[in-house]
Amino acid sequence: ALISMRQMLDHAAEYGYGIPAFNVNNLEQMRAIMEAADATDSPVIVQASAGARKYAGAPFLRHLILAAVEEFPHIPVVMHQDHGTSPAVCQRSIQLGFSSVMMDGSLGEDGKTPTDYDYNVNVTRRAVEMAHACGVSVEGELGCLGSLETGMAGEEDGIGAEGKLDMEQLLTDPEEAAAFVKATHVDALAIAIGTSHGAYKFTKPPTGDTLSIQRIKEIHARIPDTHLVMHGSSSVPQEWLEVINQYGGEIPETYGVPVEEIVEGIKHGVRKVNIDTDLRLASTGAVRRFLAENPSEFDPRKFLKETVTAMRDLCIARYEAFGTAGNA
Ligand code: G3H
Ligand code: 13P
Ligand code: NA
Ligand code: ZN
Repeated sequence: ALISMRQMLDHAAEYGYGIPAFNVNNLEQMRAIMEAADATDSPVIVQASAGARKYAGAPFLRHLILAAVEEFPHIPVVMHQDHGTSPAVCQRSIQLGFSSVMMDGSLGEDGKTPTDYDYNVNVTRRAVEMAHACGVSVEGELGCLGSLETGMAGEEDGIGAEGKLDMEQLLTDPEEAAAFVKATHVDALAIAIGTSHGAYKFTKPPTGDTLSIQRIKEIHARIPDTHLVMHGSSSVPQEWLEVINQYGGEIPETYGVPVEEIVEGIKHGVRKVNIDTDLRLASTGAVRRFLAENPSEFDPRKFLKETVTAMRDLCIARYEAFGTAGNA
């Protein structure tokens, strides 16, 4: 059944687990996520980005998610809109039947320009008023995703600050987070701790200087009842980078957020963990390998089935590691 994010995250907080929120763009991702959730008895958050809406069209995404609910009626599902850039964008998703929206007021309507605190409070509060009147949950964001080493957001297209950010924007301030939650009544808060979107998060495995799990602990200590959200939380599996590069890809050395660090965050209030890049890497690796090993195959179902299996196994691993398994 389709449920609100608030309901799902409240359960996760009560029982001390986290939920991966996987981005969805196509049938294969949707199937992989649901088959993994079914195999592990996990609740599901699927999210549609602006890029996904542009690729598949909002009605197709909506019906993909509704089809998942129909085929797996025993699994609770949150239909979430990722990174809305204005209250109007959130309003359209609410009208389409999304049960949760993200109002990302940390960036302007262009999805690139960092905003000030008052702007963020204003747009987020407006989105919350509208959404709550419809029984829909809202995730806000305070701080800007980006590398603590370089100050860059990392994402070339899509959502991400343009230009260099300063330290103050890169690590969410616990006091400001408390004031923000109080002023906006968001159901969940995305925080900045040194992660960024995409595959190029860290040039070497992250340390406490480049990925601040410590900051999560400080924020959680200040606002223990707020559900925290980690964006840019793909782990960038080295095994998949190897497969991609072995079969003709060229992805330079790069590292993501280690699963153990996310698990540590979950012990300190992180309830929603956004993952997109890992599914992209797994499906690209699976397609490259299959086509290289089966050069005479031309039925897309053959190689797309490989992507479903690859993504499903990755989702199962995250459901198990985050303690989501067994909570559907
Ligand atoms: O917010 C970032 C997600 O990875 C979505 O990316 O806009 O390319 O779908 P996208
Ligand atoms: P990744 O690029 O690390 O998968 O993050 C996705 C995300 O935060 C979507 O909002
Ligand atoms: Na941001
Ligand atoms: Zn994000």
